Amino acid sequence: MHRGMVEYPGGKAVNTGIVGLGNMGIAIANLIASNGYKVTGWEHDGGVVDEINRRHLNSRFLPGVALSTNLKATKELGEVFEEAEAVFIAVPSAFIKDVLAAVKDEVGEETILVNLAKGLDRHTGLTSFQTVASLFPRNRTVMLSGPSIANEFSRRMPTVVVLAGRERADLTAVARMLDNGYFRTRFSDDATGVELGGILKNIYAIGLGMFDGKGIRSVNFRSAYLTIALEEMANIGARMGARRETFFYLSGLGDLIATSLSEHSHNRRMGELLAGGFDLREIRRRMGILPEGYAAMLSILYMAEKLHVSAPLMKNLWDVINGRYEVERFISLFIQDFIEEARDGGADMQEEG
Ligand SMILES: NC(=O)c1ccc[n+]([C@@H]2O[C@H](COP(=O)([O-])OP(=O)(O)OC[C@H]3O[C@@H](n4cnc5c(N)ncnc54)[C@H](O)[C@@H]3O)[C@@H](O)[C@H]2O)c1
Repeated sequence: MHRGMVEYPGGKAVNTGIVGLGNMGIAIANLIASNGYKVTGWEHDGGVVDEINRRHLNSRFLPGVALSTNLKATKELGEVFEEAEAVFIAVPSAFIKDVLAAVKDEVGEETILVNLAKGLDRHTGLTSFQTVASLFPRNRTVMLSGPSIANEFSRRMPTVVVLAGRERADLTAVARMLDNGYFRTRFSDDATGVELGGILKNIYAIGLGMFDGKGIRSVNFRSAYLTIALEEMANIGARMGARRETFFYLSGLGDLIATSLSEHSHNRRMGELLAGGFDLREIRRRMGILPEGYAAMLSILYMAEKLHVSAPLMKNLWDVINGRYEVERFISLFIQDFIEEARDGGADMQEEG
């Protein structure tokens, strides 16, 4: 369904920009373009740019989907920001700072910046949302997170996400671009909690991938694991300044389930490869880049220690990833340490943020 172009009163098309036309970027770009907005997307891969402009296809990231003709691709990053009401940042967290630093002083302060990335900068320890805010201190920023596997909503499967930011008017402006019959937004004013849910769930999804890779398909065990992972996410998040209840909604619980169970998740896939006996070097070779959950893990463990919040499940995952013990031992430790402690009212899992 293509709608007529959305225009400002007076007849000028409303411009939207996307930085990165990978899995998530192309899905969001096509969603917004199909909703009738004029969309300009930046992509560093020239082949992808040409194919979108000439054939309205992105066979690398979104095979088989005919793209809206409202979407244009470019290799000139500045073009994306020209008179844009909002620009969506959809490059993986590892590239955000380098990519955006190039236009740091060129972006008009009226443009709303919407971050979709869910990770930490390894060098600065800043989250992606914080990195965007630090590069563009004069712009309003919005965080988009929640269970939104690109491969699904790009094929019009029903999806509900959360937008978080300070100004309700900004959330409303961004929601207008996204909402349609199969894609809906909810609002939150806890951007820290919404972003941390997306970052932390990636880490625990690696664990679920490890169990899958070992053929451990017990629904009972997976449910116990995800429940306790969620509790740990809320404990860590609350100490980092988020509201605890934010984790028990779409951007916490919802995204934890989606990423842990999806066959499309890079983080879950890394867990499967680890269980298959591949080392980090080989995993990097196969995946191109190590997933964001792995990249965030050490920084989060460090922060948790500094904030005196215990993260025993994450610590054990780190030990398995680093070959200190086997997945099977992880599971027996999990049953002993976590389930039994929780039953006995043990400290770790009962801790309030
Ligand atoms: N894929 C999803 O379903 C999904 C859903 C929600 C959020 N996200 C988040 O969106 C972000 C992007 O995820 P993705 O799945 O689209 O990633 P992806 O691996 O598909 O990203 C590819 C993109 O990365 C950029 N890129 C690659 N190498 C680069 C380089 N050397 N320099 C600069 N840019 C480079 C390119 O623009 C390319 O479009 C992540 O932070 C992810 O957590 C993804």
